[in-house]
Amino acid sequence: MLELDKIVLKFKADDHELTALKEISLHFETGKIYVITGPNGSGKSSLARVIMGIHRPGSGRVIFDGEDITGLGITERSRKGIGYAFQHPARFKGLRVADILEIAMRNGEHNDCHYLSELGLCPEDYLERPLDASLSGGEIKRIEIATLLALNPRLRIFDEPEAGIDLWSFEQLIEVIGASHRPDTTTIIISHQEKILQMADQIILLEDGAVSLHGPREQVWPVIRDSVRCACRQDCSRGGMYYVNCPR
Ligand SMILES: Nc1ncnc2c1ncn2[C@@H]1O[C@H](COP(=O)(O)OP(=O)(O)OP(=O)(O)O)[C@@H](O)[C@H]1O
Ligand SMILES: [Mg+2]
Repeated sequence: MLELDKIVLKFKADDHELTALKEISLHFETGKIYVITGPNGSGKSSLARVIMGIHRPGSGRVIFDGEDITGLGITERSRKGIGYAFQHPARFKGLRVADILEIAMRNGEHNDCHYLSELGLCPEDYLERPLDASLSGGEIKRIEIATLLALNPRLRIFDEPEAGIDLWSFEQLIEVIGASHRPDTTTIIISHQEKILQMADQIILLEDGAVSLHGPREQVWPVIRDSVRCACRQDCSRGGMYYVNCPR
């Protein structure tokens, strides 16, 4: 249902150019759960933003249901059935929690209380609250996830849904995301959490803007788990995460 064809994304930093995505080609099938993992700065959120149309790639194509949507913006992609829950959700002055949920759930089967309750927020406490800086990090994150669940697009991208979520709510979060996945849905979750990696049909490992591993969970997870651990390419003696293509 989604194909990324040689996606290149560059950012201009002060006096240099940074290539965040280096010819990424991936194919996502309907009905599967994909977990994208990888070190901080490896390009996971950038990839999600390219799929959502927030960033336009310098080259490469985004194909959705056989249609080239590379030139389409966020609103058009949203209409086509792509939704993204941000890693760092924005606050909106003048909107209430109820407003954003009502916009999202126009075609949904539940009312606005349902999604908040599912994620452990008492609707009576939150529906009338403004969507502003008065909400804590974990609260705004849960409201963002509830909004994507309510929207229920065919392609859902959750960017580090676990970030800021307390230990007691984490299991529930996994359950809710897993239970809401349907055979006609494609779910992409960006995560560093082992329990979320265990939900995947397919795991994609991004390193330094490129796909270094991609395949069924049963094949990829043991490689990640047992991979050489080093913190940076210059000095592998420090502890760290993930790096499979360790130079030593
Ligand atoms: N708007 C931007 N302008 C310049 N550089 C950017 C911009 N957005 C991202 N980058 C850089 O691109 C690289 C990839 O960033 P990205 O946010 O995609 O990483 P990530 O894999 O999501 O990391 P994390 O695990 O920390 O969320 C990083 O080096 C980041 O600093
Ligand atoms: Mg990120």
